[in-house]
Amino acid sequence: MKLLVIGSGGREHALVWKLAQSPHATRIWCAPGNGGIGEEVLRSNGNPVECVDIKAEDLSKLLSFAQQVQPDLIVVGPDNPLALGIVDLFEKAGLRIWGPNQKAAQFEASKVFSQRFMESHGIPTARGGTFSDARSAKKFAESLNGRCAVKADGPALGKGVLICHDLGDATRAIDDILLNRAFGAAGAAIVIQELLEGTEISLHAICDGKTALLFPTAQDHKRALDGDQGLNTGGMGTISPAPFLSDADIQSVSRQIFEPWLQGCAEEGITFKGILYPGVMLTKQGPKVLEFNARFGDPEAQVYLTRLKNDLVEILQASIDGGLGGVQLRWSTDAAVCVIMASEGYPGAYSKGKVIDGLEEAARLPCTKIFHAGTRKSAGKFLTSGGRVLGVTASATTLVAARHAAYAAVEKIRFDGAHYRRDIGAKALMMCKR
Ligand code: AMP
Ligand code: GLY
Repeated sequence: MKLLVIGSGGREHALVWKLAQSPHATRIWCAPGNGGIGEEVLRSNGNPVECVDIKAEDLSKLLSFAQQVQPDLIVVGPDNPLALGIVDLFEKAGLRIWGPNQKAAQFEASKVFSQRFMESHGIPTARGGTFSDARSAKKFAESLNGRCAVKADGPALGKGVLICHDLGDATRAIDDILLNRAFGAAGAAIVIQELLEGTEISLHAICDGKTALLFPTAQDHKRALDGDQGLNTGGMGTISPAPFLSDADIQSVSRQIFEPWLQGCAEEGITFKGILYPGVMLTKQGPKVLEFNARFGDPEAQVYLTRLKNDLVEILQASIDGGLGGVQLRWSTDAAVCVIMASEGYPGAYSKGKVIDGLEEAARLPCTKIFHAGTRKSAGKFLTSGGRVLGVTASATTLVAARHAAYAAVEKIRFDGAHYRRDIGAKALMMCKR
């Protein structure tokens, strides 16, 4: 089978790496891909993965390319093309593409849509409201004493959520988003949620329109600095599973979220094919959904796909065909840890083009895989080309051992200004001791 993967980050490297292991895959393109993706080879025939210089948001160029090479399966990594309707467009052109259509992608593309959906279908979430005028928004924020999350409705490069601890913060956040349009048109409407306290986890389920197959748990580390300090980022590292939850806990959390979600989709005529990834806060009052994403998490994909034993091509095919009811997901019992190495300054401004050394030495370590996120290859060297540069991923029988292995690989890799958290998985281990 010929496959086309869309996207260029660490998540897409993990997708390509896993797809390249499938005996079904005979040719893989990735648009636009990155330095590490272009190094992968297919297990079935030794062919290299081919990067194609087309951006993930350039739907018309992607469509022409796909019409020319006629892939048997197209796999969409990031949320932007999904929100733009790539699945509807490609399906109309008779192409076979995996991911939610534009209506289903609203779970991520519109926070207003998600908040209303959760409230209508009894999915546990934070007390919240949706607003397009600042006066009523401020009145609601006042009722929460200013302790709230103010969220731009639309996509805002992961920056559209402002956490407020008092009324001053909340008033500024509302003005910034609704009046000053700090996030442009994404801020034409906002969701305000009460501030929840607890432990945040990532859930993923692969869906085929009728069935949602739950993945094991994962936990991301969103803040830039150790001890959950500093700015929010796209994610600085993940672990899977989250060791402080029992299987019974996970089943209960998932029943409370996915059962009403599936029921709600059926009632509203939404056929969701792809990954539903709810960000969940485990509070004293039970699990509450903070947000829905309509794709694999990044860097959740790196730990999940390291642990997944099934052939990914077969699972994606079943997701498109409504066949997940007959699929059993199989996972390694090992723990996996991914540590993100980022450019100095990320998530703020950063410079690019730094030479990365030590990759080969790190790659020789056992049970370790270096996923590239923001890299490119030039004259035989890998250079940094993004904020998140590498996702250094290792697995082992325990979380403690997987952390050691991941950090041992991180120690071998060097580039100017490399920044990474040293405490990925540490809090989870502390929680197990309590
Ligand atoms: P979101 O994009 O909605 O997940 O928000 C980004 C981050 O903001 C989440 O990962 C949480 O850490 C935090 N957050 C969002 N909503 C809330 C909330 N209601 N209470 C506490 N933290 C929140
Ligand atoms: N891990 C955060 C995200 O993918 O949104």
